[in-house]
Amino acid sequence: MKTITIRTQSHTYPVYIGYKTALKQFHYWIKSLPKTQNIIVITSPKINPLYKIGNFKKIIIADDEKNKNLKTAQKVIHQLICLKADRHTLLVAFGGGVIGDLTGFIASIYLRGIPFVSIPTTLLSQVDSSIGGKCGINFPQGKNLIGSFYHPKAVFCDPSFLRSLSERDFKSGLGEIIKYSILDRSLYKDLLQHKKEILERKPDILEKIIFKCLQIKKKYIECDEKDYSKRHALNLGHTVGHALETSTHYCHLTHGEAIAQGLYFASALSLKKKLCRQKTAKQIHALLRQYEFYPQKISSQVFSHITQDKKRMGTVIPWILIKDIGTVCQYPLPILSQENLERIKSWKAHKEIAGTLTLNDIRLNSD
Ligand SMILES: NC(=O)c1ccc[n+]([C@@H]2O[C@H](COP(=O)([O-])OP(=O)(O)OC[C@H]3O[C@@H](n4cnc5c(N)ncnc54)[C@H](O)[C@@H]3O)[C@@H](O)[C@H]2O)c1
Ligand SMILES: [Zn+2]
Repeated sequence: MKTITIRTQSHTYPVYIGYKTALKQFHYWIKSLPKTQNIIVITSPKINPLYKIGNFKKIIIADDEKNKNLKTAQKVIHQLICLKADRHTLLVAFGGGVIGDLTGFIASIYLRGIPFVSIPTTLLSQVDSSIGGKCGINFPQGKNLIGSFYHPKAVFCDPSFLRSLSERDFKSGLGEIIKYSILDRSLYKDLLQHKKEILERKPDILEKIIFKCLQIKKKYIECDEKDYSKRHALNLGHTVGHALETSTHYCHLTHGEAIAQGLYFASALSLKKKLCRQKTAKQIHALLRQYEFYPQKISSQVFSHITQDKKRMGTVIPWILIKDIGTVCQYPLPILSQENLERIKSWKAHKEIAGTLTLNDIRLNSD
């Protein structure tokens, strides 16, 4: 089993990564707590019958993205009160990113903050959402618009949970992993070399990939815990990704699928802004295709949702764009006008990269 220690200004906590060992570590860790400690597991109707994690009190909530909202948080808080949860109660988030985000958010506000640990059960939550302290929930106007920074006491990433994940949910994690590979060339090479083992969910390679992604994320969250500067790099692909999710009411795309579309857009925009070479954009395009993410047309309606982007600064969106594989930069652009939104309607990112559509077909406000 591998361990990573996350050290931010406000908190230090361990992340255990190991096939069939991280869950054992959870049981070992729990034993170190006082016998009187009230422990409540928050999980979903899908995960609960699949895995037995112990004889704990449970709150079971539907974990679709559209339930990651205030109404669900309120229901859970009501159940916590019924279960007599006090300030020493430990919450255990047992599920994917939706369960993790909701549990972290509730832990941060219930009685002004109670402890929680995380046992992520999806690829996406193991490589990304389980660390970093962001606990966001959705609001009709935008994704993760409400939330807090609140860290778990410990995280237990056991890739054995990934066996039961559907193809689509597994692939969703790959969307976020491809994002990490654009931030780190060594991971990019791993994804090119080990596609077969990754798709076959071989424990060794999954452990390696999860460990690498968490190490990359650790670097950003430790130097910029509250996401004011360097951590913005992790937002690569998310400006368009979040707008896609919001505009489709979280019904059509998984988070990772939306991020993959955001990566197509970010690489094409980087090319248009002459930040990267055509070769780099093509490499990213090829990797996305290799993992069966294909570019979709992005409508102007999606772009209108970008105006709600949490990272916007007044009328400017600080895009994260790509210079090369392993190097990204912040590139502020004014929010698109209606006229430019109409122009962009006809833009297909894949044609852009393939060179069949001229770069002049897209005009942004700053041109
Ligand atoms: N907090 C952060 O820093 C951060 C980062 C990235 C993403 N997120 C959030 O994470 C969420 C997406 O997370 P996700 O991709 O884990 O999706 P998810 O939590 O919606 O889970 C996807 C599906 O997989 C099922 N599932 C979970 N574990 C399973 C298992 N072991 N076997 C079978 N089915 C299982 C769930 O019941 C659900 O139906 C989004 O809301 C996104 O905004 C948060
Ligand atoms: Zn994400």
